[in-house]
Amino acid sequence: MTDLDQQQADTLAALAAATTPDAVEAIRVGALGKAGWISALLKALGGMTPEQRSAEGPRIHAVREAVGGAITARKAALESAELEARLAAGRIDLSLPAPTTPRGSIHPVSQVMDELAEIFADMGFAVSTGPEIEDDWHNFTALNMPETHPARAMHDTFYFPDEDEAGRKMLLRTHTSPVQIRTMLAEGAPLRIIAPGRVYRSDSDATHTPMFHQVEGLVIDRGIHLGHLKWTLETFLKAFFERDDIVLRLRPSYFPFTEPSVEVDVGYTLVNGQDGKARRVLGGTEGWMELLGSGMVNRRVIEMGGLDPDEWQGFAFGVGVDRLAMLKYGMDDLRAFFDGDARWLGHYGFGALDVPTLSGGTGVRA
Ligand code: DAH
Repeated sequence: MTDLDQQQADTLAALAAATTPDAVEAIRVGALGKAGWISALLKALGGMTPEQRSAEGPRIHAVREAVGGAITARKAALESAELEARLAAGRIDLSLPAPTTPRGSIHPVSQVMDELAEIFADMGFAVSTGPEIEDDWHNFTALNMPETHPARAMHDTFYFPDEDEAGRKMLLRTHTSPVQIRTMLAEGAPLRIIAPGRVYRSDSDATHTPMFHQVEGLVIDRGIHLGHLKWTLETFLKAFFERDDIVLRLRPSYFPFTEPSVEVDVGYTLVNGQDGKARRVLGGTEGWMELLGSGMVNRRVIEMGGLDPDEWQGFAFGVGVDRLAMLKYGMDDLRAFFDGDARWLGHYGFGALDVPTLSGGTGVRA
């Protein structure tokens, strides 16, 4: 083997042993750089006789080709290996299951509101909202409770010290009913909405808190009557409590914003619990509990909503969301709802990924 063959073989061996692009670059500089050994040989060709040049030239060029090609190939191989390694290190397996012990849970009130929205959406109802800081026109006057109306005394209202620009008294809304007015004025008729949200009254014991939740329902259309109201409430309560044997009883009542007004009772059955005590389970007709207020929307309220009561009729209802949650999920002290105790939430909360659906059941525990 000549010296040139040896040098080429050494260089190729060094390339094969190089493990980084930097090491390959060093070999390239040593061979093909300005002061590299192959460059020196090429330069030497210039000082040779024509005979020497034609004998040595092809050999030197062949070495340059072989070494140059090997350098390019080795560099490419090392660079792609490096890229592969970087990609492998940054890989995220998106098929990994969710953590087995997720933190946090959905509060029963949020859960029930989601269930209500799901059930009513299926009946063609949209969700509507209004402000919690209301004026007394929307909260009372437009709902047929003028300044002097004794019904205003039924509510223990939190008033603000200041009035708004129009001279209206401002207050924390005492019910979700003002959303009826706001939605009629904003959207006209026909309408099918529910309006869930917070309401406030100065009241506090085991079954009353100064802030609690209601959901309002309002349907405005032509030819609406009490039968529509009863069917809607029955269909909703059967879906909500997931029982077909829910029975409703409509009792005459009075609300300023409905005429006629009905109070709706739901039938229950007494069942002996494990502790031997009788528990009320909804369904059947052994006893009755009062559940919600409702009625045909008063003509004056339809007028206040900017609609002609000779053309448009409707029904409305209002029900406590917290009470629905207590009845469905078996909590007995309303105050615990708002304590923010992580143990209570851990026990009564719902999984964030278990979105209520009509087919899958509306309440899946965390
Ligand atoms: N706003 C009433 C309350 O807070 C509940 C209610 C009763 C709402 C009858 C209605 C209704 O829409 O028709 O006590």
